[in-house]
Amino acid sequence: MRVTLCQCVLAIALVANLVILYYGSKLQKRIVHRHRDTSVRGASQQLPSHRGMGVTILIREFEDFENHVAEAVQSFLQQRPDQPILVVADRLPYPPLALPAAPNVQVVILRPSPDQPAYTSRPESYIQTDYVALVPDGVKVESTRQLDTMLEEIKVSKGKAHMVAAPVQSLAPLQCLDVKVSLREWTVTYSMATSSKLCSAVRGDAVVLLATKDFFNLSAPLTKPLMTSVFIQTSLRGWTVKILEEVSFPASHQPLFSSSHNQWKADNLAKASRAKLFNDFGIKWVVTEDERQQWYGCSKETPRCFGTVHDDTPEYLFENRWTPPCCLKALRETAKYVTNILETSGVRYWLEGGSLLGAARHQDIIPWDYDVDLGIYLEDIPNCEFLRSIESGSIVDEKGYVWEKAIEGDFYRVQYSETNHLHVDIWPFYPKNGIMTKDTWMDHKQDVDFPEHFLKPLVPMQFAGFTAMAPNNYKSFLELKFGEGVIENPEYPNPALRKLEKGN
Ligand SMILES: *[C@@H]1O[C@H](CO)[C@@H](O)[C@H](O)[C@H]1NC(C)=O
Repeated sequence: MRVTLCQCVLAIALVANLVILYYGSKLQKRIVHRHRDTSVRGASQQLPSHRGMGVTILIREFEDFENHVAEAVQSFLQQRPDQPILVVADRLPYPPLALPAAPNVQVVILRPSPDQPAYTSRPESYIQTDYVALVPDGVKVESTRQLDTMLEEIKVSKGKAHMVAAPVQSLAPLQCLDVKVSLREWTVTYSMATSSKLCSAVRGDAVVLLATKDFFNLSAPLTKPLMTSVFIQTSLRGWTVKILEEVSFPASHQPLFSSSHNQWKADNLAKASRAKLFNDFGIKWVVTEDERQQWYGCSKETPRCFGTVHDDTPEYLFENRWTPPCCLKALRETAKYVTNILETSGVRYWLEGGSLLGAARHQDIIPWDYDVDLGIYLEDIPNCEFLRSIESGSIVDEKGYVWEKAIEGDFYRVQYSETNHLHVDIWPFYPKNGIMTKDTWMDHKQDVDFPEHFLKPLVPMQFAGFTAMAPNNYKSFLELKFGEGVIENPEYPNPALRKLEKGN
């Protein structure tokens, strides 16, 4: 008997159908089973069974030692007894929250308990509505119309605004902000938005509504401080928030913190959680809309924020990031300090290698460079007391910089501090038959000898915010060291390992 192509296809389709049917029913059973699970997490014991309520209230930020969570929950239940409400905490609140024992009010603890399945510590397992409203502590609701209006708004502006924000009454009006996040440059910049209604973040206490699937598709939806964290993540996705001035939620009658001690405690915790957020997200420099600058990580007291560099490729290049801005700032400071000392003590120096390249390109350190290189005349070393006296050991000078002779070879290194090993390297050269040379060579292609005429004379060049000395005819000097076209064609130091993506 011959089987036609048609019969063959039919048979395959039949088998495929059976397989789908079988696994489909298995899956369904499993979902039903999961929803019947009644494991204890916090205040109540069941996954909510209702659908179609539209919005789940999510309360994430409150302090154990003083909060108005119970009051807020009561006010939402008063409007709608079956309103799904989720209180999310890092660990079980203590003293316990006095929440009503209703199946639609859940407490989810983010810290997994080793005797519970993983879903019990994932708030998204408990949310059945298409939308969530992020509600700050102490905010109450007056009528069902408030959430309904927000819901309407987000539905009609579908696509245009991913989030709708309503202010909390009695506080300053919400500010519409633009947020620019550059992970590559470890930076967040806030500015006042041109619009007062549609922007990438809001400043001020607000109830924020968004689609559940959007919220839980963020990288870290529940990270605190919630609003700062959410708007950093949403702005990276190009989402906008629409401010709804006509809806506003009353705040609790009492102020959130009854004593100045509790206020102080809460402020400190908020500060710590902000620092942790920026640390976790790899943000080291924040510029606020009123142009205040906040630095996170890297100072004289903290270790250099990247480890030992292997194969000329610092670790941040593998994360598609450039040199942290605080490191660039510290390198600029160190370079200015060191060149000033060399100049005043009569040591002839010039910008070398990548530092000269950066000066030629844009008068600054190359944005992914990790140190500063200077050349000096070997015979000038006795002129500088620091260089003269570190033949053995190292010196910490009165500004806290560390001068040392490098263990890797015959060159010197000035570190930003004893703790922070960002550094300027100083390479001594001596002339021999009109060629500048040295005795130890590092394994770098730019580490070659060169005609002395490049140093006669040395010329001033803008670099890292000050005027440094550089070889004359720097273009030929750089092309001699790195190859033709090096100024115009930026590359990472070891393109075999990491290639610079062009056009951004
Ligand atoms: C989740 O986010 C990714 C990108 O961030 C996107 O490609 C994907 O479509 C999103 N999924 C949902 C269900 O929205």
